[in-house]
Amino acid sequence: MRVLLVGGGGREHALAEAIATSPALSMLWCAPGNAGIADIAATVPIAADDVTGLVAFAREHAVDLVVVGPEAPLVAGLADACTAAGIACFGPSAAAAQLEGSKAFTKTICAEADVPTAAAATFDDAASALAHVRAVGAPIVVKADGLAAGKGVVVAATLSEAEAAIVAMMTDRAHGTAGARVVIEECLVGEEVSFFALCDGERAIPFGAAQDHKRVGEGDTGPNTGGMGAYSPPAMFTPALEDEVMSRIVRPTLAAMAARGTPFRGVLFCGLMLTADGPKLIEFNVRFGDPECQALMLRAEGDVLAALDACAQGRLDTASVQMRAEASVVIVMAARGYPGAYAKGSVIGGLDDAAAMPGARVFHAGTKRVDDSIVADGGRVLGIAARGATVAEARAAAYAAVDRVAWPEGFCRRDIAARA
Ligand code: AMP
Ligand code: GLY
Repeated sequence: MRVLLVGGGGREHALAEAIATSPALSMLWCAPGNAGIADIAATVPIAADDVTGLVAFAREHAVDLVVVGPEAPLVAGLADACTAAGIACFGPSAAAAQLEGSKAFTKTICAEADVPTAAAATFDDAASALAHVRAVGAPIVVKADGLAAGKGVVVAATLSEAEAAIVAMMTDRAHGTAGARVVIEECLVGEEVSFFALCDGERAIPFGAAQDHKRVGEGDTGPNTGGMGAYSPPAMFTPALEDEVMSRIVRPTLAAMAARGTPFRGVLFCGLMLTADGPKLIEFNVRFGDPECQALMLRAEGDVLAALDACAQGRLDTASVQMRAEASVVIVMAARGYPGAYAKGSVIGGLDDAAAMPGARVFHAGTKRVDDSIVADGGRVLGIAARGATVAEARAAAYAAVDRVAWPEGFCRRDIAARA
């Protein structure tokens, strides 16, 4: 198979490594990739959201399967454009990607399919939204309807925070048109877990769970980030809970999407809150999590490429991938200042030493090669990962590798997976 992988972060480096081990692979390209991906795939300077450019490349190079990492190209119709060109694509159509692209749409599907989720109401004007939060009171959650790079959610502890969030999103358009509509919902309490299911439009198979660490600071303090580290499996997500999520959330959602004529193919990422009343859906994403994907790929056993292709072809019944019993941990190293302003271009040393540590893997995220050096080229720059018999062993191995990285301009959280 000739495969084009789309994206250039740590998630895509982990996907590239998994795909590269498949006996079915003949050629792997990655657009745009990063310095780590360039060691195992041919990188192509096409942006991940350049739908026209990606499809033209795939045609020209007789690509058999396009594997899409990030959500933006999916919401923009990359899978539809591939289908129109006769190329298989791992990732949903634009219509099915609305499960991530519109929080109001997801609430509609949840109501149709009786999926357990936070009670919510949708508003198109600030006056009605303000009246609603004043009537309901805090704590309450205010969400921009559209894609806002992970910054469109405010968990308001007080009424004035909720009011300020509504004004920022709807009146001041802090997230552009994504905030023209808001979803206001009940504040759920519990442990958060990310669960992943591979889907072929009709069928779904579980593909593991992970726990992310979204805040930048130790002890879950400071601003939200894309994720500072993850581990898998989270012990609180028992096999019984997985069965419940498959039967109450994943399968009913697939059925509702198929019934609308917009079947979901790809990976359905269920952001869950494990509440006292059982698991409830916080949000769907239509892609792998980053950095959750790095932790999952270390645990995946079997031919991942064949499984992704089976999703794209609508024949998931032929796939055989599962998660090994071992645990994995990934620690994100970010440029100082992230998630605020940060500098690019600092030189990173020690990567070979880190990769040589027992059980360790180095995933590149925002890196590029300049002459003989690897330099920082983004906010989240590296994911240092390891597998172990237990989460504690994987964690120790991952931090031992982190300590080999010589990069004074970077930082990481020291408490990833500590709660596990
Ligand atoms: P989202 O972008 O929807 O994942 O939201 C970002 C974060 O906000 C989630 O990871 C949760 O920590 C939090 N959050 C979102 N919705 C709720 C809710 N209804 N109740 C409590 N916390 C929430
Ligand atoms: N790490 C969370 C996400 O990928 O959305």
